[in-house]
Amino acid sequence: MKILVCENYDKLSEKAAQLIMSQITLKSNSVLGLATGSTPIGMYKKLVEMYENKMIDFSDVITFNLDEYQNLPIDNDQSYHYFMDENLFNYINVKRENIHIPNGMAKDIKKECIEYDESIRKIGGIDIQVLGIGNNAHIGFNEPTVNFEKKTYVVELQESTRIANARFFNSLDDVPKNAITMGIGSIFKSKKIMLLAAGENKAKAIYDTVYGKVTPEVPASILQLHDDVIVILDKEAARLLNPVDYSVV
Ligand code: F6R
Repeated sequence: MKILVCENYDKLSEKAAQLIMSQITLKSNSVLGLATGSTPIGMYKKLVEMYENKMIDFSDVITFNLDEYQNLPIDNDQSYHYFMDENLFNYINVKRENIHIPNGMAKDIKKECIEYDESIRKIGGIDIQVLGIGNNAHIGFNEPTVNFEKKTYVVELQESTRIANARFFNSLDDVPKNAITMGIGSIFKSKKIMLLAAGENKAKAIYDTVYGKVTPEVPASILQLHDDVIVILDKEAARLLNPVDYSVV
């Protein structure tokens, strides 16, 4: 695990966007695994700027998002479909047919999960997966639990996650109770993983992820076992880490 600590959120976003740009420069038809949430928003803004400045071409890029709420229509402004359009896809030249986001409205949700993993497999796997992390160390919507889920599946959201996400909805009651998410196994198969975290409220989850026991109780701890993980933090999220374990950039 390589850990970079940035002066602030802006620098973190810049660094993350640069890594995505390098990936696409090296392989124009890269398969990107994307996340929603507040953390990657700055990175998406930088990517849009890079696109506008003709530094990146997304025309052959393929994307797979980590997760989506279940039973939230895609035109709802809290759906992850909506989020991705508003923060990235509407402003770059990615082809619509190359965008994949789990369909939380699917009638046959089990089939949707199986087909999602199958589409990732057929395309040759994810080249770089972007992750945020929950206060409880969830990745995607893989909540702390007793076993690592191998595949894309439907998860019941924990109350703490619903409360954390309620800030985007009118009330807690409006936050969906279930979501469809890539499983830990689906995420782990990505060739490279880039975990982003900003802010003091992520410091404990990052500490447990880096130093803790590898356990499904701390879903992100599995990343300790992956060969190619880069963790990009701001100073606050890195507060509990030993400085010998990271580079300041
Ligand atoms: C989003 C996702 C979640 C978020 C996590 C952190 O697609 O999979 O795991 O990355 O909840 O969210 P923020 O960035 O809002 O703190």
